[in-house]
Amino acid sequence: MTNVKKLFVKTYGCQMNVYDSERMATAMGASGYELTDAADQADMILLNTCHIREKAAEKIYSELGRLKPLKTANPDLKIGVAGCVAQAEGEEIMRRQPLVDIVVGPQAYHRLPAMARQADSGAKVIDTEFPAEDKFDYLPRGPKMKRAPAAFLTVQEGCDKFCAFCVVPYTRGAEVSRPAGRILAEARDLVERGVAEITLLGQNVNAYHGSADDGDWTLAQLIRALAKVDGLERIRFTTSHPNDMSDDLIAAHGEVDKLMPYLHLPVQSGSDRILKAMNRKHTAESYLRLVERIRAARPDLLLSGDFIVGFPGETEADFNDTLALVNEVNYGQAYSFKYSSRPGTPAAEKTEASDVDKSDRLARLQTLLTTQQKAAQDGMVGRDVKVLFEKTGRLDGQLVGKSEYLHAVFANCDAARIGEVVPVRIVKSVRNSLAGEVI
Ligand code: 5AD
Ligand code: SF4
Repeated sequence: MTNVKKLFVKTYGCQMNVYDSERMATAMGASGYELTDAADQADMILLNTCHIREKAAEKIYSELGRLKPLKTANPDLKIGVAGCVAQAEGEEIMRRQPLVDIVVGPQAYHRLPAMARQADSGAKVIDTEFPAEDKFDYLPRGPKMKRAPAAFLTVQEGCDKFCAFCVVPYTRGAEVSRPAGRILAEARDLVERGVAEITLLGQNVNAYHGSADDGDWTLAQLIRALAKVDGLERIRFTTSHPNDMSDDLIAAHGEVDKLMPYLHLPVQSGSDRILKAMNRKHTAESYLRLVERIRAARPDLLLSGDFIVGFPGETEADFNDTLALVNEVNYGQAYSFKYSSRPGTPAAEKTEASDVDKSDRLARLQTLLTTQQKAAQDGMVGRDVKVLFEKTGRLDGQLVGKSEYLHAVFANCDAARIGEVVPVRIVKSVRNSLAGEVI
């Protein structure tokens, strides 16, 4: 083919954006575009954006500003903004930055090829609708290209929880689950392409309730069905809300071998007063009891969490409740953030300021979380784990992959074993990874 066009995609934010970027690339692939790593060679540049915390939109505007010379050098270059900033800002993006040709919200990606054709004929195109149909239905799968051993698969999108600080219910819309049959078909297709591990994605993944022939399935039912797919070795899911951690999902952690012993279960705060103000609809105590029940089902489970410090009105006492909760839970992995006011969210209306420097609280929380994380990682030394090797390592002869606990592990191993789950003895804990020896 002579008229292959080049597409450059830059992805910001969460794993769902990584997944969406891949699917957009596939959809554009069917329209004659192939991916390039070089923005200056591209016929189309797509920024897949994130709006979860402050300055995300400003960052996109400065990034767009930096693309100006490319547009000057190649007036045919088309520039698109996708993702949550596209959804939140809409046509404002084109007003502020006229070099943008396409604005496409996360629910309209199946329309991207058609939008690109309109843009090619000189139009400015915007689509931030929330259609009723499954956007992934319309994304062609493309030829059976080999894939990396670990892949993401979106099973639900959007969120009905309306935590007071969060833009997701507005940018991604109401919670929608994909039908179970489509997910199983996509999983089988991924396995045929060499995928051994699938992470099921959703903003509120454990609220999954997709339709199947025998009624709506829970996430646990979906996981049990996926576990029967030959060649699929590992299943993970993220991100979960404590209130949707149902009994059958907890039981699955104890019963389904392919379900990995790692759970991302954000709590956000350890103070009941702040949890209430955040509209989290759970307490510190109910979260702790839940963690107990999950650990009873799967004692070696590694728990991960998200935390926000400096939510409006957070006092030193509230913050200490968070530290106390962290001490009680003992996290193996965690993400913590300074509260960032998001326009349009209920919390943004609050004028109460927290009484202390957010940076200071964040530093204290991170010191504690880092200690726990390091202890969990160091505790792996001497243990035998199973590693799914994903790629070659930094040194000759090395492969790197992930253990069942999502620790990065490197070991000397034949490159032919990339994509295989290999027993490895952990011999050393280094900065952000573990050194192992193949058993
Ligand atoms: N400010 C700070 N952190 C936030 N998060 C979501 N919204 C905000 C906000 N406005 C964090 C939460 C969530 C994670 C994905 O991002 O901890 O779990
Ligand atoms: Fe946002 Fe998660 Fe709360 Fe939904 S459950 S509103 S995605 S923080």
